Amino acid sequence: MESGVLPRHIGIIMDGNGRWAKKRLLPRTAGHVQGAKAFRKCLRHCIDLGIECVTFYAFSTENWKRPKDEVDAIMKLFSDYLDEGLDMYEKDVVMRFIGDRTPLSESLKQRMEKLERETAGNSGTTCCLAVNYGGRDDILHAVKTLSERGEDISALTEDSISSALYTAGLPDVDLLIRPSGEQRISNFLIWQAAYAEYVFMDVLWPDFTEKDLDTAIEIFEGRNRRFGGL
Ligand code: FPP
Repeated sequence: MESGVLPRHIGIIMDGNGRWAKKRLLPRTAGHVQGAKAFRKCLRHCIDLGIECVTFYAFSTENWKRPKDEVDAIMKLFSDYLDEGLDMYEKDVVMRFIGDRTPLSESLKQRMEKLERETAGNSGTTCCLAVNYGGRDDILHAVKTLSERGEDISALTEDSISSALYTAGLPDVDLLIRPSGEQRISNFLIWQAAYAEYVFMDVLWPDFTEKDLDTAIEIFEGRNRRFGGL
């Protein structure tokens, strides 16, 4: 890749797993299995490129509406991932999980906290996984946190809200990628991606390759970001 200004934070909506499976007459869960592989491949490429932070949308606050066997299959993939932990390639990654952990099992919660604790001091790419995440829920949760901290609500600033979001301390999203042909944000990082560049791609997530990530970054680098100015 030509070196331009890389996005500091990339957000990815891993969409199209179900359609990928349907095209092959496979159960939807087979699409999620391939999706989890694409996630790992994409994370590795972000590491290679030196991306500061990448957030993957793994499970939304709305995804509980899906059939139980599909929800269970996604949670199982997530659980397997936590058990596998980071490999040599990912050894410098900082792991973060964003979203409401309340309904997750104790075992999941403990392993999430352990991985976060063990990687907090690393200096490589931050990999943020959004699990039971919703952008509106994120903002609501932040406002409640600020209120519990005794903050004066009338004196709130944008920075104080940012500091109470699940993504506290991470840069705003610069580039938001949605594969699968859909062109919507689906309640993902709505505060953090206020000034992101959006790149919608026709590839289904399980087919998403390193080259697709390069293409999205090249599109990003060709955009003229004005942040409301001239
Ligand atoms: C959206 O595609 C995808 C999801 C709701 C689940 C994404 C989960 C994974 C990729 C696996 C997570 C595991 C790890 C280890 C991060 P869709 O099912 O809505 O696809 P469709 O629109 O084609 O039906």
